[in-house]
Amino acid sequence: MIKSYIRAVGMYVPENVVKNNDLPQELNTSDEWIRQRTGVLERRYAEPGDRTSDLAKRAVENMLAKGIVKADEIDCLIFATLSPDFFFPGAGVFLQEKLGWADRHIPCYDIRQQCSGFVYGLQMAQAFIENSMYKNVLLVGAEIHSNALDFSERGRSVTVLFGDGAGVLVISPSTDKSKILATEIHADGAGALNGIHMKLHDIGKRPLVYYNPFDFEANADLYPDMPSSRNLFTNAVRRMTEVSQSVLAKLNLSVSEIDWVVPHQANIRINKSVVEHLGISDDKVLYNVHKYGNTTAATIPLLLAEYTENNTIKRGDLLLTPAFGSGFTWGASVIRY
Ligand code: ACO
Repeated sequence: MIKSYIRAVGMYVPENVVKNNDLPQELNTSDEWIRQRTGVLERRYAEPGDRTSDLAKRAVENMLAKGIVKADEIDCLIFATLSPDFFFPGAGVFLQEKLGWADRHIPCYDIRQQCSGFVYGLQMAQAFIENSMYKNVLLVGAEIHSNALDFSERGRSVTVLFGDGAGVLVISPSTDKSKILATEIHADGAGALNGIHMKLHDIGKRPLVYYNPFDFEANADLYPDMPSSRNLFTNAVRRMTEVSQSVLAKLNLSVSEIDWVVPHQANIRINKSVVEHLGISDDKVLYNVHKYGNTTAATIPLLLAEYTENNTIKRGDLLLTPAFGSGFTWGASVIRY
């Protein structure tokens, strides 16, 4: 049977570094609170004219510049984001056009699974490759959060967490030991109905392009909301632990065999708790929440790209990628890199 593997990775983060002390005074927060409660020290904010597909384009270009994959080999595009350029059409077609690939007519999917976007997209790409539908699937995780956050005190528990960035992968048929071994994903829509999640109050009211993020009154119902953040926290720990154990059990692997945990990062305390429950040493966990905040669908692709580039993750390493997001959605994959 054909198996799939991660053939290439790439990333882009905006140059604008926003440290905790750089956040607007109106948030009425502090560096100390943010560090202690979340682990975030700084995040990146995109330039005002940028759209999510622009960040993705730069990440794809950085990936292509490595010369591992050629642009014309890519025959399918999956774009995971909660912050598409427009409500519709999806960010995938904008990216395809911006890359100059529109005349090749390759299919473009958008998927909307928030912090679980990467694992959902990975399973899709894996299925496409393993069923010989495509040869090289471009999986993108990209977000611009900074243009849609509430910078008043009301929004501070959400606003301090998020940052912008883009990570990309190419998934191709495996030819050696490098393989995506298994991906398990889940959803529980009761998390949406009960409001214990993060959402825009009313997406129907959100203008299709941009609005002034500093006009707090006009935008009162347009910001992300996390009415029960502790419930989200508890569910994240529970589901990321549970799905990690489940996917490893299906492969008859034990946690001690994992070289690197590459988890979604909403809050450093969630990750510390997950690895404690799993019985894995924190030394085996890769982090980027301290410098990028929560970049939702981009988080795991950014980790994979950056820690590959600095030679931390090597071919042959066994990776575990648990994620949990709004919806609720969650999942994990086990990858022989
Ligand atoms: N600065 C200063 N004080 C703050 C801030 C802030 N940025 N945010 C909240 N506070 C205050 C609150 O007002 C509260 O004050 P009070 O005690 O006087 O009422 C106090 O700090 C404690 O607030 P909590 O919300 O209970 O703080 P908590 O420790 O739970 O941390 C946080 C909040 C960081 C949001 C945490 O609950 C969390 O990370 N939740 C999970 C987020 C998550 O998993 N997201 C993933 C999904 S999101 C997605 O998919 C898009």
